[in-house]
Amino acid sequence: MPSVEKALVIRHREIVPYYYELEFIAPSIAQEVLPGQFVNIRVSNSLDPLLRRPFSIYNVDKKLGSITVFYKVVGRGTELLSLMPIQKRLDVMGPLGRPFSIPGNINRAYLIGGGVGIAPLVYLARVLTDSDIKVKVLMGASTAGFICGRDMFDQLGVNYLISTDDGSEGLKGKVTDLFEQQLFLQDCDYIYACGPEPMLAKITRLALDNGIDGEISLEGRMACGVGACLGCSHPVLKDGNRSYAKICSDGPVFRIGEMLLHNGDVR
Ligand SMILES: Cc1cc2nc3c(=O)[nH]c(=O)nc-3n(C[C@H](O)[C@H](O)[C@H](O)COP(=O)(O)OP(=O)(O)OC[C@H]3O[C@@H](n4cnc5c(N)ncnc54)[C@H](O)[C@@H]3O)c2cc1C
Ligand code: FES
Repeated sequence: MPSVEKALVIRHREIVPYYYELEFIAPSIAQEVLPGQFVNIRVSNSLDPLLRRPFSIYNVDKKLGSITVFYKVVGRGTELLSLMPIQKRLDVMGPLGRPFSIPGNINRAYLIGGGVGIAPLVYLARVLTDSDIKVKVLMGASTAGFICGRDMFDQLGVNYLISTDDGSEGLKGKVTDLFEQQLFLQDCDYIYACGPEPMLAKITRLALDNGIDGEISLEGRMACGVGACLGCSHPVLKDGNRSYAKICSDGPVFRIGEMLLHNGDVR
């Protein structure tokens, strides 16, 4: 059940230019939240901007009752959030949305993240490794300085591979190229992916072509965040017919092949 908490900010720092880690105490949300779910944060104490902003759960400390989000400053809301000092209180609603599932028959999973799409995959990696599922992370960024989350994966002892658009680290190319390159190893029976829609469209096509099941998490634009306004409707395939799903409440996690992505075509 989602709740609204006046969360105390205990850590807030810029990791690399424009990318921030924000930790706050929100015990009710922290106890309940599952990987893939998100929180909706009011980024200022006034009514401007009116709408909360959604952020994935990057990490949870259930003992401390804290949640960490990892975000990129892209506009006014995230810029205001970046100014939030430690020891102030943030208005946070959550946990929201459908989490990733962990099917009982999987042994080896790929976690594929593009840009800040890596955010929900860190907490997921923790839960999967706790369930003895072997995890390999594929992460892509424009350049080496913007690769995030590796310290968390190092702590977990999780294997990760990197791609960068400019070739400054790892494979030169997109994270989808990295996925395509790894497919021949046949060491994956489930995938979890998060990132921009064109990336998810390509991952979906590669997964379907190779008979691999999995889930994707969408980070589309939202308004209310709780299923009330239809502001996040996205086309899906339901029983072979085109229909609409709400990213905030039917998702943000969807089964591979369920969403009509990018140019309206999953294949
Ligand atoms: C379920 C969910 C989870 C998310 N998790 C994270 C996260 O963990 N870390 C993170 O950095 N961001 C995440 N986002 C995206 C984040 O919510 C937006 O970046 C944020 O709301 C932008 O607010 P703003 O006021 O700064 O930007 P705005 O001023 O609203 O927009 C600035 C620019 O960013 C673009 N933009 C805004 N929102 C989005 C979006 N959702 N997708 C693509 N482009 C957008 C706009 O088109 C515009 O060009 C998530 C979104 C969803 C729906
Ligand atoms: S944002 Fe309002 S229904 Fe999803």
